[in-house]
Amino acid sequence: MDTTPPRWLRRTASTSAPGLAFGADYNPEQWPRATWDEDVAAMRAAGVTIVSVGIFAWARLQPTADTWTFEWLDDVMDLLHANGIAVDLATATASPPPWLTAAHPEILPVTVRGETMWPGGRQHWRPTSPVFRRYALALVAAIANRYAGHPALAAWHVSNELGCHNVYDYSDDAAHAFRGWLRQRYHRLDRLNDAWGTSFWSQRYSDWAEILPPRLAAAHPNPTQQLDFKRFSSDALKEHLRAERDLLRTITPDVPITTNFMVMGETNAMDYADWAGEVDFVANDHYLEPGPGGLSELLFSANLTGMLAQGRPWFLMEHATGAVNWRPVNVPKRDGELLRDALAHVAHGADAVCFFQWRQSAAGAEKYHSAMLPHAGLDSDLFRRVVDLGATLRALAPVAGARRRPAEVAILFDWVSWWASEQDSHPTSLLRYRSEALDWYRALQRAGVRADVVPSSTPLDGYPVVVAPILHVVPAALTDRLARYVASGGHLVTTYFSGIVDENDHIIPGGYPGGLRALLGLRVDEFGPLPDGATVALDNGTEGSLWTDRIDGLADDTGILARYTTGEYAGRAAITRRPVGRGSATYVSTRLGPDGLRPVLDITLAAADVHSGLPAAARGRVEHTVRQAGDEEFWFLVNLTDEPVDIDGIDGAMLVPPHGPAVLAPRGVAVIQRAADHSGHGKPDPVRPVSRQASG
Ligand code: GLA
Repeated sequence: MDTTPPRWLRRTASTSAPGLAFGADYNPEQWPRATWDEDVAAMRAAGVTIVSVGIFAWARLQPTADTWTFEWLDDVMDLLHANGIAVDLATATASPPPWLTAAHPEILPVTVRGETMWPGGRQHWRPTSPVFRRYALALVAAIANRYAGHPALAAWHVSNELGCHNVYDYSDDAAHAFRGWLRQRYHRLDRLNDAWGTSFWSQRYSDWAEILPPRLAAAHPNPTQQLDFKRFSSDALKEHLRAERDLLRTITPDVPITTNFMVMGETNAMDYADWAGEVDFVANDHYLEPGPGGLSELLFSANLTGMLAQGRPWFLMEHATGAVNWRPVNVPKRDGELLRDALAHVAHGADAVCFFQWRQSAAGAEKYHSAMLPHAGLDSDLFRRVVDLGATLRALAPVAGARRRPAEVAILFDWVSWWASEQDSHPTSLLRYRSEALDWYRALQRAGVRADVVPSSTPLDGYPVVVAPILHVVPAALTDRLARYVASGGHLVTTYFSGIVDENDHIIPGGYPGGLRALLGLRVDEFGPLPDGATVALDNGTEGSLWTDRIDGLADDTGILARYTTGEYAGRAAITRRPVGRGSATYVSTRLGPDGLRPVLDITLAAADVHSGLPAAARGRVEHTVRQAGDEEFWFLVNLTDEPVDIDGIDGAMLVPPHGPAVLAPRGVAVIQRAADHSGHGKPDPVRPVSRQASG
């Protein structure tokens, strides 16, 4: 394993010692030159080590097709370097300048309704436009050649949040590229016709040229066409990423390349499991959802990002010090949340903690978005909190490079199932794939059991328990893999609307859950989705919503864990479990929510001999993660509540808070350095008697 720290992890430009990186997007082009000197002085005061520069600077770098103005950026790069601040340099292709869209309006994306997305905002370019690609790559080449040898250059930042605004483009360029993509997938038109089920509604194609993106149609567009368009759209942006990356690699082979993902909330158009291998290190942007579920959502996203990075350090490219500007109501962070949220990402493997943005804008659409240096200036509570965070991250330098220690429970996360399960013309439009996955994550949090949120292609052997919520799309290879997992002693739990279709979104016949029917040992004859707000009772004391199943056939060896006691299916099985050798396959036919999932979770965890590694008083009140480096490990305990939590009973030296007490503050985070437990994957974390030392 290569143990050299990545460039962006160097504590300063002049040292190779690793530390956690700290910084922000820096947009000096919005400010006069004199402000830059104030900026770098304040960055030094805050302990900033890295900034992302040039993200929206295309118009300033290339003011006309034939003019290049790099001098100001030279100045910025030199200034940052002179102050020991490294640069994650953007390729600046995110937002094309007015001269380009005026000369080439054919690069502008087109919506599903055929409307042009005009310039005036940002990211108004078609992922498949050859014209845009040509201009973008010329810019990339110019920047890369100019700064190839610059000592501040630590990493390349390709574009910005690829797909944030332009992922679904229905233009003629998209139609052309979609056909090319389909030819590669199906080779022959009859195969496409079969896969898309075009005998339905007279949709049979006789020529590739007849095929279009799923533009606004008179009735539900063909579901497989929609699913393939989602696959294609993710791939089209991935191709753009690759094009920029490959060019950068020819010019600066030693500079690591990333692009900032958006593993957060309901953003789902980019299959990041498929993208993660394309970058030299994974970077993510995350914005806290206000309200009670927000922290769990953050932790879930950070967890998944860490698994996309395969346990290696990743880069939190953006989050917010306070309010954003793009929700209907933009509330600031509450006391303690700035530090907590930053460390919650570190808990899941982030080795860089960066914000959008360094200095709060005075003009433009984001002037009400928080930043590290707010409108109020240096003498503000927010800036003091930023400085505190910088100091805390310095105290956590030993964590840099430490890998995430795998958990014993995996939650399978599958982008194609996410896309397919939420398509139109389904039994219910209320189903939300990610919400069900989050419910399981929260249920495990409440049990005090660590979980990894893993892409569905992840090897499962090391996990005694695998939860696969709404695993809707089950190609034969995945079915086989899950059957082998259970046969070799694994405990699989899955839910309603799983196992239903193959990769072409065709029903797997013979009764639901199609591909998983034999493994689960049951047959569902009919779905019974529930109206919004309706619930059914189960005889284990829990309550289901959203969905029920009419379970008709149970295999001889399938047991019933709970039955419905109300609703149409009262008396029938609601939760089943089929023991298979030392393993088991469990099915949950309704939405139970985090608390309702506990009984079935407890049965599964007990069967798999998986236990909480936390003292009883902390279980369910903290998120527990472990990062490990050689003979040391770091326990992160993130307070999930607004109350103090007793964390007495955990052996080790407190890194954060220094000389910390045995009680975790409301919204607090503790980081405890301990001797590594080498008992390995699949073993519970032993709780040892307390002997807390100050870390110094
Ligand atoms: C995204 C973008 C940033 C900025 C922030 C605001 O993450 O990448 O440029 O617009 O949103 O939250």
